[in-house]
Amino acid sequence: MSSFAQRIGGLKVYLAAYENLIYPRFLRKYGGRKLSQEDVWGVLSSSTKLLAEAGPILDLGCGTGWFSRRLAEHHGAAGPVVIGVDQSEHAIDRAKELQKQAGISSERLSFVVEDIEKSKLALADLGCQNYELASEVWLCGCLHQLQEPEDMLRRIRRLLAPGGRLCIQTLEEPSQHNQRVDVAVMRKMGQKIFRPGEVEKVLSLTGYDVIRMEAIGFIKLVVATNQAAQVERKNDE
Ligand SMILES: C[S@@+](CC[C@H](N)C(=O)[O-])C[C@H]1O[C@@H](n2cnc3c(N)ncnc32)[C@H](O)[C@@H]1O
Repeated sequence: MSSFAQRIGGLKVYLAAYENLIYPRFLRKYGGRKLSQEDVWGVLSSSTKLLAEAGPILDLGCGTGWFSRRLAEHHGAAGPVVIGVDQSEHAIDRAKELQKQAGISSERLSFVVEDIEKSKLALADLGCQNYELASEVWLCGCLHQLQEPEDMLRRIRRLLAPGGRLCIQTLEEPSQHNQRVDVAVMRKMGQKIFRPGEVEKVLSLTGYDVIRMEAIGFIKLVVATNQAAQVERKNDE
């Protein structure tokens, strides 16, 4: 069953105001300084490095597709295809509308409605027949909305090409803050606010090496790679 936070996130009125009003305000409030979407993009994208045989880039829980569009524009026509996935039909409708306004072709960027916790997360099912593994997975604002975040991280690791990158923006409670009520409300709404230091522990447990990590207020930004998966695969051979 979807959480209260997931249901609110699928409302048309919320989605219409999301990119210009709700998300910037959220980042400013919980980032503890004038943090913007561009800042988040800057931190995460600066630690990625596309693989030579670049499979698609997945933006899981893409919402209205801000990061999907940014990725498609950044890599250009020669770059890998970007696939945005979200469980909310309304979010994907809005993402397609904004894609059209931005003039980004469907060969470079496509969107799929899918619950990533219920689906197989197979690239073929997401409209990508040429590759079995993704070169990057972006998970912005979504990990803390999932019922089983650890399980999802394990599944993403298996989907990533060796040396591929996982870019995360999530919520982690700083060791000292004065937002106890907000945190309690967010938890009540079904969002997981990670405990201090928990994100890196979970990533290590699920087989990732962290390449870059920044905590800006409650906003935790991480770029990780699945090097452990390569070792595991080699050991299996
Ligand atoms: C806070 S929004 C972030 C949207 C976008 N990534 C961004 O940063 O602008 C979280 C999104 O995750 C999506 N989401 C949550 N759980 C999901 C699931 N199980 N499968 C697919 N999408 C999910 C929600 O529908 C929502 O659009």
